[in-house]
Amino acid sequence: MIGILGGSGLYDIDGLQIIEERDIHTPFGEPSDRFVIADYRGKKAVFLPRHGKGHKYPPHLINYRANLWGFRKLGVKRILSISAVGGINPLLKPGDFVITDQFIDFTKVRPVTFYEGVYTIIDEEDQNNDLVKEYMSNDRVVHIDVTEPFCSAMRDTLKKVLSQTGNRFHIKGTYAATEGPRLETSAEIKALSRLGADIVGMTLVPEIVLARELSMHFASLNVVTNLAAGISGERLTSDEVIQMMKEKNDVIKQIVLMFIEELPEELNCSCEDVLKGAAI
Ligand code: HPA
Repeated sequence: MIGILGGSGLYDIDGLQIIEERDIHTPFGEPSDRFVIADYRGKKAVFLPRHGKGHKYPPHLINYRANLWGFRKLGVKRILSISAVGGINPLLKPGDFVITDQFIDFTKVRPVTFYEGVYTIIDEEDQNNDLVKEYMSNDRVVHIDVTEPFCSAMRDTLKKVLSQTGNRFHIKGTYAATEGPRLETSAEIKALSRLGADIVGMTLVPEIVLARELSMHFASLNVVTNLAAGISGERLTSDEVIQMMKEKNDVIKQIVLMFIEELPEELNCSCEDVLKGAAI
């Protein structure tokens, strides 16, 4: 089953046949919202708006662990994450899509792992029988490899879908994750640019890391809603971010539906091996 994480301005997906809405409780706390389980042409998907409906949670206070654990409880093994980002690379224009292939993490105050050694929080109701459960129940310390953090097979499907929708898109890009909720200074954006970042946002980390720790496949699709601080010379506003996400709403929903339909049953990648040999 595919999980869809919606970002700013994406709080539901019409076109999906809703089967049920589920409140999931986790030992990590409450997820951002109810999980909406739906069917699209015989394939099941689960949608969750990461900021909650009505955008209740700022990026640094989203309960990323509860969101990912909720997906695990529902049997989700593949996640498509949609986000709004600022464009740093001069080749990017507002409205462009970017399929992220790397990240640089500048977040500061978020729980970043499920594996906390002797402090690990255990879900007594976990129905899975896998390395995640084994490592967590034995208080193991785990260092996952993130050399190539995103699922190559899911990225290939995204490329295929995006090339069919006629929107401008970029097949790779490095995402700088900032803590927020404030936007960046122009000096920070200049520094991020020199470090090799193409886009900037506040939510991809720890989301991708936690998904990978659960041995999930994860792809990230980003909409450039604005040029990052100091690039256009204009003041930045949340209004322009939401306005661009509104403008792109229909095409995002079309991409999500096509993605659900196109994603192969078998994914030819190494995401599910990430936990092998990763514990101390
Ligand atoms: N910076 C950080 N996060 C963002 C931006 C930005 O410019 N635009 C949308 N999300």
